[in-house]
Amino acid sequence: MKLLVTGAAGFIGSNFVHYILKKYPDYSVVNLDALTYAGNLENVKEWEHDSRYTFVRGDICDAALMDGLVRDVDAVVHFAAESHVDRSILDAKSFVQTNVIGTQVLLDAALRSGKKRFHHVSTDEVFGALKPEDEPFSETTPYDPRSPYSASKAGSDHLVRAYFHTHGLPVTISNCSNNYGPYHFPEKLIPLAITNLIEGKKVPVYGDGMQVRDWLFVEDHCRAIDMIVHKGMLGETYCVGGASERANIDIVKQLLSLMGKDETSIEYVTDRPGHDRRYAINFSKIQKELGWEPTVTLEEGLASTVEWFMQHEDWWKKIKSGEYQDYYETQYKR
Ligand code: NAD
Ligand code: TYD
Repeated sequence: MKLLVTGAAGFIGSNFVHYILKKYPDYSVVNLDALTYAGNLENVKEWEHDSRYTFVRGDICDAALMDGLVRDVDAVVHFAAESHVDRSILDAKSFVQTNVIGTQVLLDAALRSGKKRFHHVSTDEVFGALKPEDEPFSETTPYDPRSPYSASKAGSDHLVRAYFHTHGLPVTISNCSNNYGPYHFPEKLIPLAITNLIEGKKVPVYGDGMQVRDWLFVEDHCRAIDMIVHKGMLGETYCVGGASERANIDIVKQLLSLMGKDETSIEYVTDRPGHDRRYAINFSKIQKELGWEPTVTLEEGLASTVEWFMQHEDWWKKIKSGEYQDYYETQYKR
């Protein structure tokens, strides 16, 4: 198979490229990425000279470019998005542009090129926030997005489903919980905490730190997407979770203990506006239909993630200093 993977210079997309090219020696991948602040070609440097890998710098909103790229592949796996809730609170425009308009442009390209197989990667945040006693989100939970980020992802999910029902486009959607692991951009809680602790800085904890997330190791997520792309039922949505609900403060305390630090490294800061209290996922549909379940426990995953960040100081220090954004100009674009 030849896959167009959008946003594969980002966190999950780059992990997916590693996963696919290692698992399927006869597959090839086109990485289409705009290289926004979140895109970093060092994430996929390993494949730079591999004949099965091509990088194209471009915007998913560019219809002519998308038509040309989609025509040439067997399937689209769509990760590209603006992904950080805090940034969407400061400025929502690029979220609507990329997440909603960009997805519509890609869907049209898939339609025009003979109804190409299309997998859309989405988030559990489209379902809103749970109370402590609520059942976890599932595929039948009504949409109730509460941040500009999740609202824009909800819009994209609705468009994907609409193209299935209206045009018969062969789509699938996955809504997954918070990922963590290698190449996680250090603006998100876990990589920010690990890198701050290595640098001897404090970890900012929003509000009372009692917000709950269901953490999923990124490689488990990549395996779920692989299964959905190959065996998923067209038109269906699959919820993907880590079976690892934890309060933010407990995640931070676990990292402190893994890194030999004490609670003086915690700094409680002003809460995020509209902060969703709890996310949790019931993944029994993908478990029953496709035989997927998470394999990495939170304890194993956090320990290996801490190890990865300790061994890749060069990678994240270039991000924190801003130097990584020179990579395309100086190394890649020859
Ligand atoms: P990320 O921010 O690390 O990467 C996004 C990538 O998309 C970057 O490489 C960026 O350059 C690229 N991009 C942004 N706008 C683009 C545009 N207009 N055209 C082309 N490329 C563009 O994000 P991530 O954490 O890897 O998330 C990937 C996908 O998974 C997103 O759709 C996100 O909503 C979804 N998701 C993420 C999580 C998570 O915990 N990170 C959880 C659930 C769902
Ligand atoms: P984040 O990694 O931004 O993911 P999301 O908002 O998509 O869930 O945040 C995870 C949780 O950690 C969320 O409840 C917000 C909180 N948080 C902090 O407490 N401090 C921080 O510095 C960050 C970035 C997040």
